[in-house]
Amino acid sequence: MEKLLIEGGHKLEGEVEISGAKNAVVAIIPATVLAKGVCVLENIPNISDVTALFHILRELGASVRMLDKRTVEIDTTNINDPVVPYELARTMRASYYFLGSLLGRCGRASVSMPGGCQFGVRPINLHIMGFEAMGATVDIDAGMINADAPNLSGAGIYFDQVSVGATVNIMLAAVKAKGMTVIENAAREPHIVDLANFLNSMGADVRGVGTDVIKIYGVDVLHGSTYAVIPDQIEAGTYLAAAATAGGDVTIRNVIPKHLESITNKLEAAGAELIEGDDWVRIKRDPAVPLRSINVKTMPHPGFPTDMQPQITAMLTQAEGTSIVTEGVWDNRFRYVDELNRLGAKIQVDGKVAVVVGPSKLKAAPVKATDLRGGAAAVIAALAAEGTTEVEEIGHIMRGYDNIVGKLQSLGAVIELRTYPNEMPKAL
Ligand code: EPU
Repeated sequence: MEKLLIEGGHKLEGEVEISGAKNAVVAIIPATVLAKGVCVLENIPNISDVTALFHILRELGASVRMLDKRTVEIDTTNINDPVVPYELARTMRASYYFLGSLLGRCGRASVSMPGGCQFGVRPINLHIMGFEAMGATVDIDAGMINADAPNLSGAGIYFDQVSVGATVNIMLAAVKAKGMTVIENAAREPHIVDLANFLNSMGADVRGVGTDVIKIYGVDVLHGSTYAVIPDQIEAGTYLAAAATAGGDVTIRNVIPKHLESITNKLEAAGAELIEGDDWVRIKRDPAVPLRSINVKTMPHPGFPTDMQPQITAMLTQAEGTSIVTEGVWDNRFRYVDELNRLGAKIQVDGKVAVVVGPSKLKAAPVKATDLRGGAAAVIAALAAEGTTEVEEIGHIMRGYDNIVGKLQSLGAVIELRTYPNEMPKAL
């Protein structure tokens, strides 16, 4: 069993390099299945979701070779059997992107129902509706989603709810379909734009990304490509929120400041000082001066990202007054709040709203990572807590944060990853 041990009360100071974006790369890796030729992907984050996708590619018959720590070469020439079974798909959500890409390549795909963080029900009705509109027959049997479309064709698809995953899956299926596909009320996140840029670099014709209408003109062949993944908006935001919570002076490098605007605006409103350069953002906060309470509501891009909601809630435990945090994307994304309250936070949740009263004097306690970003929130709160906090179930955190221990240590945090032997219960 692995735990993080974090001694709180130290300011964060220095510079940290932000890695490639998880939610971009988890769409781009399955997209390589569509290439006739070899793809080289640069700025790949070293996270367990990426390792899991490489595993799926290899099991499908692809060759996956790291050229250096951040660059991978993927050759999907030998993929013939478009089946991703449960053992490979269950750890993560993005495994279902193989549905779109295998359907586009082979005209059929069978992929297990995906795993991922638990935020209440995570339906896939919009993905299925989109595939069906393109002429696919889709059924779910024994936990497998089976899609069949010998003649996938372009279609007009309207989503009645903005969905990142459904937008990605339809884009993947549509780039090689016959004719034009129009997605209305499409997601506009930076990772959607990044996926489209990658597909276009392979010879696809995807237009309108970054707006809510995406047009995809199907092409016959996509070739291999060399492509660098964008920096991770949420990892960047997490380090900014950590610095705002613990106090200090931190510069995050290799970022696109425009992608961070919704986050930096809130951090400024809460009293942190922010300075921006071309590809860096610096945050300063004096820990002796409490932050100010603010209200935050999460929304699809360009709104405040739901994937930063737990981290900013952790930060607001150090703000004077009452802050209201409203979750506008997921039904149940406050499971981590119990863990913050174990550290002494005063947060009450009612449905999709959390009321945070601060500033709280946090004190170390054993806590667990309830999910990826909930785990990040626990780490942030621990950085501000008196004493040494133990964070358990950190596998969730490792799914999405590249070298979080080393990066926080380089900023002066006192944090350690400790491995404990698994204890077997004694026989009675
Ligand atoms: N929804 C439906 N039907 C569908 C699909 C989605 O009703 O067929 C609903 C969901 O229940 C939710 C909303 O639409 O209420 C948005 O879900 P979306 O499909 O956008 O989420 P996702 O694609 O499953 C991705 C990210 C999540 C992030 C959300 C929202 C990946 C791999 N995951 O999930 O990231 O929270 O978009 O931005 O890209 C994370 O990184 O921590 C994470 C959970």
